[in-house]
Amino acid sequence: MKHKIKKAFADVFGESEDLRIFFAPGRVNLIGEHTDYNGGHVFPCALTIGTYAAVRERGDRLVRMYSHHFKDAGIKECSLDNIRYQKEDGWANYPKGVMAECLGSGFSLPHGFDIVFWGNIPNGAGLSSSASIELVTAVILKECHELEADMLDLVKLAQTAENSFIGVSCGIMDQFAIGMGKKHHAILLNCGTLSFEYTKLGLSGLSIVIANTNKKRTLADSGYNTRLKECGEALCDLQKHLSVQSLGELTPSAFDAHAELIQNEVNRRRAKHAVYENHRTIEAADMFSNNQLHHIGELMRDSHLSLRDDYEVTSHELDTLAEAAWRHGGVIGSRMTGAGFGGCTVSIVKDDAVSDFIETAGARYEEKTGRKADFYTADVGAGARELKGDDDGN
Ligand code: GLA
Repeated sequence: MKHKIKKAFADVFGESEDLRIFFAPGRVNLIGEHTDYNGGHVFPCALTIGTYAAVRERGDRLVRMYSHHFKDAGIKECSLDNIRYQKEDGWANYPKGVMAECLGSGFSLPHGFDIVFWGNIPNGAGLSSSASIELVTAVILKECHELEADMLDLVKLAQTAENSFIGVSCGIMDQFAIGMGKKHHAILLNCGTLSFEYTKLGLSGLSIVIANTNKKRTLADSGYNTRLKECGEALCDLQKHLSVQSLGELTPSAFDAHAELIQNEVNRRRAKHAVYENHRTIEAADMFSNNQLHHIGELMRDSHLSLRDDYEVTSHELDTLAEAAWRHGGVIGSRMTGAGFGGCTVSIVKDDAVSDFIETAGARYEEKTGRKADFYTADVGAGARELKGDDDGN
């Protein structure tokens, strides 16, 4: 892969002796959806697919960027002295946002770069291609400018860039999973306190299969921000009588006892999802760590149904793929993953059933939606880093 990206760099910016290569993975969330900005738990893992970057340091303040994924967009340029969001810059606003946020936080970035990005995460699939390009940029800045920042600082910086520069009020899950990922492990992260633990995924005889609906997320950003607002309103209603800082602090029984305090029926359902999903996530992480996977299927299914009925972020395509998975005897569990509104499902499938699952679920999906799904067997990899020695990103 390094060889490929070096060649891509040479094609765009010319041969270079002193290229540095960086990588940030994509992520898949096993369970714990729309809980991060509600102060609850998430259980994501980093993937071995992600965003590579070949970087040559410059002597001046110019940044020139090219993405192999968006060849038609050509080279995007900006000066470190004048970084502004520009709609026509499309994908390049993500790395620009991280640079702007870095400067805004007081770090000094003395010189610019020529960068070629090369990603193998499908865009708009809910596998966090945007957080991946943010984190690879943050690591470039840290390593090339020797910034005194640890990975958690970079994670927070990337999240703030997405919130304030891009304008999506995302939680911290994606940036955290991508920055802090560990090979063969998922991360149980308490998004309220940022305390976390790694759980070894003892998936002996099982595979994680990601199925892409190939339905680009629509209304994702506005729908996402609306959910955030609705949960905030529900919390405000509860706070009139209860001393809680976030929905993530409530147990399901405490929620049930006080749910009537939430005035609006829609907001009540949103909050119910956040509370119950948080509880399911803690339970599921425990099962993964003890290798007791028999109950996982039920938790993943309940998660999907709650996202469909109470949180209303699934789609006909996601429901069809999840239902096709539930019908298959070789599937332990399946649910939508990521923000929803399109994107992917994640399934835990017995190794010897993977090809039959792909064939039957794919056929059923096509029959019911007229679309073709793409399937990937996910490998769980490590977090964002400079690729040194024989580290090729896998
Ligand atoms: C997106 C956001 C995350 C998280 C998920 C839903 O991926 O970026 O912060 O809220 O949606 O769980």
